[in-house]
Amino acid sequence: MGRETGEMQDAALLSGRVLIWDGAPLREGPGAARIEDDWAVAIRDGRIAALGPAGELRRAHPDLPETRYGRDLICPGFVDAHVHYPQTRIIASWGKRLIDWLETYTFPEEMRFDDPAYARAVADSYLDLTRAAGTTCVASYCTSHPASVDAFFEAAEARGQRVFAGKTCMDRNAPEALCDTAQSALDDSAALLARWHGRGRASYVITPRFSPTSSPEQLEALGALWAQHPDCLMQTHLSEQTDEIAWVAQLFPEARDYLDTYERFGLLGAGGLYGHAIHLTPREVDRLAEVGAAVIHCPTSNTFIGSGLFDMAGLVARGLRLGLATDTGGGSSFSMLRTMAAAYEIGQLRGHALHAAELMWLATAGSAETLGMAGKIGTLAPGAEADLCVLDLASTPAIAQRAARAEDAWEEVFATIMLGDDRAVRDTWIGGRRG
Ligand code: GUN
Ligand code: ZN
Repeated sequence: MGRETGEMQDAALLSGRVLIWDGAPLREGPGAARIEDDWAVAIRDGRIAALGPAGELRRAHPDLPETRYGRDLICPGFVDAHVHYPQTRIIASWGKRLIDWLETYTFPEEMRFDDPAYARAVADSYLDLTRAAGTTCVASYCTSHPASVDAFFEAAEARGQRVFAGKTCMDRNAPEALCDTAQSALDDSAALLARWHGRGRASYVITPRFSPTSSPEQLEALGALWAQHPDCLMQTHLSEQTDEIAWVAQLFPEARDYLDTYERFGLLGAGGLYGHAIHLTPREVDRLAEVGAAVIHCPTSNTFIGSGLFDMAGLVARGLRLGLATDTGGGSSFSMLRTMAAAYEIGQLRGHALHAAELMWLATAGSAETLGMAGKIGTLAPGAEADLCVLDLASTPAIAQRAARAEDAWEEVFATIMLGDDRAVRDTWIGGRRG
């Protein structure tokens, strides 16, 4: 494999097979995607300058140092639309369902993030692990400690990486050491937003954990903050497990349903990212669709914690924007390849087989759309930011023997989705630099 890239910063020519979106395969069908052989991507100043047949691009950009990827697939970097970086060290913890899992594993680990040095060490290791898995952008929850937010944004800034993140707000039903108050959550969130939102590639996300751990006063305060900053996204959890939904009904007896616990406090809108959204009522689906909200599918988490089967086809039919996510560490993998495989399997259990083009689109452009980044990331197109991932479609003997039998490139891609992991990721490029 060519490694002849020179030292010119943020500028390069990558040649190989190139994945192109002509539309949105999840909505328009697999024909809205193409894989071009012997193409190239020209990168200048951290952005994609041009795409086309490799010979033409070499002639047009003779100054650019070329990396030849041969039969590898050059794709947009993966966009993981819902993660908890502080759960990196408790991923794959055994035997619990959501509420027990939070109390047994998650909350004790999140308590460690009162130490800024610990937070930075985990942020660094999280971003290294995910870059090795081809992920170039994430939307992360931090902990309730403001320093955990600074640590994450600083670690991302050092890598030139586009990230979305926010302080997790929670003022009840959690250990004292993790609880803030309605007022401190508002003040800390507002200060972090002012410090980070729009600084370089950072975006602040208003982050109430979920309605069981926020008082009505806290939800109201965060709704008011969002109204003051409508260009910010808001992320939370919705209808992940049936026990959780029953608990929400007890805590908010006046609410019509789980979504209403957000809606009544100004926390429902087009910039809302609702993680999981498995057990939705018809009213909830109608309201999510009416306001143009985004729903984030976390398939490895949904099987690992035993949450249920997401209704991809039903929600696509309603026109909802959908993203794909690992939900680290409720999810069982850092890899968006493993996550696509789990989405495929859940689709099968609901009678809907997702095509490789649909899965790759969800993991890149689909997630980017939910983050308000359509056309900027998640796509290889002129003007887009040069966040890319290069996949070796024969990375292990098992995959190589299956790929050799493939009748077209999509069959090869599907084998890597189902059988691949970070060994399939040849290179990750962030802002035009190879990481
Ligand atoms: N609901 C509230 N907090 C969490 C969390 O940390 N992970 C998951 N999967 N669900 C949640
Ligand atoms: Zn989550």
